[in-house]
Amino acid sequence: TVLKSHGRPPWYDEDGKAIHDAFVIGIAGGSASGKTHVARCIVQALGSIPTVVILSQDSFYKKHGPEDLKLAFQNRYDFDHPDAIDMPLFAACLADLKAGRQSNIPIYSFKDHNRLDETKYLYGAAIIIVEGILALHDPDLRDLYDLKIFVQCDSDLMLARRIRRDVTERGRSVDGILEQYLRYVKPAYDNFVQPTSRYANIIVPGSDNTVAIELIATHVRRKIEDRSRYLRQHLARIGPMDLDL
Ligand code: ADP
Ligand code: C5P
Repeated sequence: TVLKSHGRPPWYDEDGKAIHDAFVIGIAGGSASGKTHVARCIVQALGSIPTVVILSQDSFYKKHGPEDLKLAFQNRYDFDHPDAIDMPLFAACLADLKAGRQSNIPIYSFKDHNRLDETKYLYGAAIIIVEGILALHDPDLRDLYDLKIFVQCDSDLMLARRIRRDVTERGRSVDGILEQYLRYVKPAYDNFVQPTSRYANIIVPGSDNTVAIELIATHVRRKIEDRSRYLRQHLARIGPMDLDL
C-alpha cells in the first residue's frame, strides 16, 4: 500500500524531487590527518539526532587475489591510488543510503589486507558521514555530498600518528610503514589527496579542531531542522492522500 498525492508518494515534491534524502557529509584528508576523529566528534556533537552513520572509504577497497595479497604483506601494493578503490560500488551504496534505501556495506580488515566475508546492513540514516583519503576525488561521490570537508594536517604530524596507529592497531612494523609511506602514501597524498582540498566547503585543522567541529555541527543541525520544516509544510500543502492498494 502506498499513500499517494498527485499520483506520487508523499516524500516527493511537486517537481518529483525526493524530499527526505539523508544529509551527506564527505570528509577527505591525508592518512592519519584526523578524518575519523572529526567524523566521530561530529556524531557526538549532534547528540540528539539518533540516526547518524559513518561510512568509511576502507570498506570499498577492491577484493585482492593471492598475488595482490603477497605484495600487500611486502608493503608493495599501492593502497593509496584511486584505482585501489571500487568507486562505482562506493557511490552506489552511498546513493542507496542517501535515498533511504537499504545497503549492505563490505567490512575491511587492515590486518588481513582484505574484505571480510560478512557485511554491515545499513538502513534509514538521517545523516551520513563519509570519510576517506579519496572521499572528494570521485565526481559521482562529490555529487552526493551536501557538505564537503577537508582535514588539513602537517605531513610530519600525519606520519607520526600513522606510525603509532599502524603499529598498535593495524599490526605493522615501523620499517614497513616507512617503506610504504615513501613509495606510495606520500606521492599519492601530493598527487591525488591534497589537490581535492579545492572541492571542500570547509578546511578543518587536523589538531585543535573543537571549534571547527562545533561550527559544523551547528550548520548540520540547522540544515536538518530546515528539512523537517520543509517536509511538514509540504505534507500540510498536499493535504489528504489517496490510498494506492
Ligand atoms: P584518519 O581517519 O584521518 O586516518 P584518525 O582520525 O584515525 O585519522 O587519527 C589518527 C590518529 O591521530 C588517531 O590516533 C587519533 O587519536 C589522533 N588524532 C586525530 N585527530 C586528533 C586531534 N584533533 N587531536 C589529537 N589527536 C588526534
Ligand atoms: O585510515 P586512513 O585514512 O589512514 O586509511 C587509509 C590508509 O590506509 C592509506 O593511506 C593506505 O596506505 C592504508 N592501507 C594500508 N593497508 C591496507 C589498506 C590501506 O596500509 N590494506
